[in-house]
Amino acid sequence: MRHLLDTQGLAREDALRILDVAEDMADTQRREIKKLPTLRGKTVVNLFFEDSTRTRISFEAAAKRLSADVINFSAKGSSVSKGESLQDTAQTLQAMGADAVVIRHGASGAPRTLATSGWISAGVVNAGDGTHEHPTQALLDAFTIRKRRFGDDSRGRDLDGVKVTIVGDVLHSRVARSNVWLLNTLGARVTLVAPPTLVPQDVSTWPADVLYDLDDAIAAGPDALMMLRIQLERMNAAYFPTEREYSRRWGLDARRLDALGADSIVMHPGPMNRGLEISAEAADSPRSTVLEQVANGVSVRMAALYLLLAGTEPSTADTPPATDAAVGTEKENTR
Ligand code: ASP
Ligand code: CP
Repeated sequence: MRHLLDTQGLAREDALRILDVAEDMADTQRREIKKLPTLRGKTVVNLFFEDSTRTRISFEAAAKRLSADVINFSAKGSSVSKGESLQDTAQTLQAMGADAVVIRHGASGAPRTLATSGWISAGVVNAGDGTHEHPTQALLDAFTIRKRRFGDDSRGRDLDGVKVTIVGDVLHSRVARSNVWLLNTLGARVTLVAPPTLVPQDVSTWPADVLYDLDDAIAAGPDALMMLRIQLERMNAAYFPTEREYSRRWGLDARRLDALGADSIVMHPGPMNRGLEISAEAADSPRSTVLEQVANGVSVRMAALYLLLAGTEPSTADTPPATDAAVGTEKENTR
């Protein structure tokens, strides 16, 4: 794998490979010594032009657990404020030895530009671009659904027939887009629920059904209900009358939580607007996978970095070559 830019173009076997390697990574994270020597000598740059808590920190944790060096860049406080371009910023970081660049950017398509422009030779991972895609989020969501469904027997399995309902601000959500493509590729049946104003115009071309009533969607018995954050920072108009009205019609409150089937799970990519799209009862209930999603994010990002970087030449001559032993520990594999 050279880059991870989207899930729309991710083949089923590549998606399953990432999920299965993530299972191996998750196994190593239950050991006493969590660190693997696999990416020793590699440098991962986290290039964040938009704010992030989970994605940035979990990519950092993932890279460090694979023994890569990590350089964290955030646009705030950098020379971007002096007008430095994406090209110059990326080339500056590449000159410092980046083997992989993890990029979050407000412009849809920025990661693809970085990967295809020839500005840099590093592998590129999309950590969220505008309203376009957030592929590692969808992969960690699929991993979480698969793990809840099949437990230790998850490897090699897809999500054939699993019903996933995605609710809320679909219009501005890269999480929704990446999930729709990936879940469909894995055989799941996706339903979107939103106010008409928050449904994208081109939704008829997506492999998903659209409903406008959350109670109807819950009555249909989804296996997973994924609540999306209302992205106020991307809204330049009034998409719903009031927050109270939104919450009444499209929020997951205690009553709707009770109406969900006993085995269905409640997901949210975070950060949550508690009291708006999701109530505290729902967010903190045993069927909520919010924190599992975060924990699984580290394993999935370890898998993505491993598949991108292991096996390629180390960036300096005097470092040991990357090992294929993704599942060994630091102690076991140190020569
Ligand atoms: N954190 C996710 C993203 O960056 C979801 C969100 O912000 O609502 O796309
Ligand atoms: N889910 C997600 O991408 O969270 P952050 O925006 O905090 O990275």
